[in-house]
Amino acid sequence: MILTRNSQALIRFSVGGGNPAVADGSRGGNRGLSVRIDGDGPGQTEFVMVNAPVNFARTPAQMLGFLEARRPGANGQMDPEKVRAFTEANPETTGQARYLASKPIPGSWVGVNYWALHAYTLTNASGAAQVVKFRMDPLDGTVNLTDDEARARPRDFLADELAGRLSASRPAGFRMVAIIGRPGDPTNDVTRMWEGEDSRPVVELGTLHVRAAADAARCDGTIFAPTILADGIAGPADDPMFAIRTPAYAISITKRQN
Ligand code: HEM
Repeated sequence: MILTRNSQALIRFSVGGGNPAVADGSRGGNRGLSVRIDGDGPGQTEFVMVNAPVNFARTPAQMLGFLEARRPGANGQMDPEKVRAFTEANPETTGQARYLASKPIPGSWVGVNYWALHAYTLTNASGAAQVVKFRMDPLDGTVNLTDDEARARPRDFLADELAGRLSASRPAGFRMVAIIGRPGDPTNDVTRMWEGEDSRPVVELGTLHVRAAADAARCDGTIFAPTILADGIAGPADDPMFAIRTPAYAISITKRQN
C-alpha cells in the first residue's frame, strides 16, 4: 500500500441485516465498517469489514440459499422448518451467528474489532509475496453492553455515541493489523478461520483515526468496492465471494437510490 503519513479516509459504519429500522442495540446482525483509504491518491484501497472473523456463506449460491430459506412467507413469518433444513445441510453457515452470540453487544462503532475476512496477498517491490488477513482493533478497547443495557439504549444510539466521543475528543479509531498467513492456509473460504488465527503474530500497518462526521449525502451516494486495492495488494482469486461483491454493491446503490 502506498500511503503517506496522513492519508485521508472515508468510513461508513452500519448495522447489518435486511431491516433498515433495526435497533442499534439488537443482537442479530453484524456491525459493519467500510473504508476508502486515500480516495484520490495512489494508495486507494477499500475494505468492507464486519465485526466477526467469519462470514455466513462460503459461495454466492450458499448465500442465496441462506436468504431464500429465511424469506418470509405469505403470513410475513420465516418458516422455521425451511431454516432448519438449510442449516442442517449447510452447517458452516451458523459460524458467524454463533460468534456474534458469544460476544457482548457493541456499545460503540469504534469499540469493536472488524475483519475484512478474505485472504489477501501482499507483494513487495522485489516480488516477495505474503498472504494475510486484515483486522481493525479499536484504539480505545472494546465497548460492550449487556443485553439489558442494549435494550435500554435509544434505537439509533450508535451515531450519537460516536458524535459524543468526537466532541469530547475521546479516542475514536483503530489499529489496522495484518494477520500473517502460513503455507497451506485456505484462501477460498470466508466461513473458516485459519488454524490458531486468534493467536497468530500480527503486523501493525497503521492507525485509522475517526475525526469528524461527513455529510449524509456523501455517505448515501457512495459504495465501497472491496476489489479496489492499491498496487501490491491482491484479493483472493480462488474465493468465490470476493469478486462478486463489488458488482453486488453497485446494483444495490442504484436500487437504494430509486
Ligand atoms: C465476505 C463477504 C461479505 C462481507 C464481509 C460483507 C459485508 C458487508 C457490509 C459491512 C455491508 C455494509 C456496507 C456499507 O455500508 O458500505 C454490506 C452491504 C451489502 N452487501 Fe455484503 N458482504 C459480503 C459479501 C456479500 C456478497 C457476496 C453479496 C452479494 C452477492 C453482498 C451483498 C451486499 C449488499 C447488496 C449490500 C448493500 C450495499 C449498499 O446498498 O451499499 N455482500 N456487506
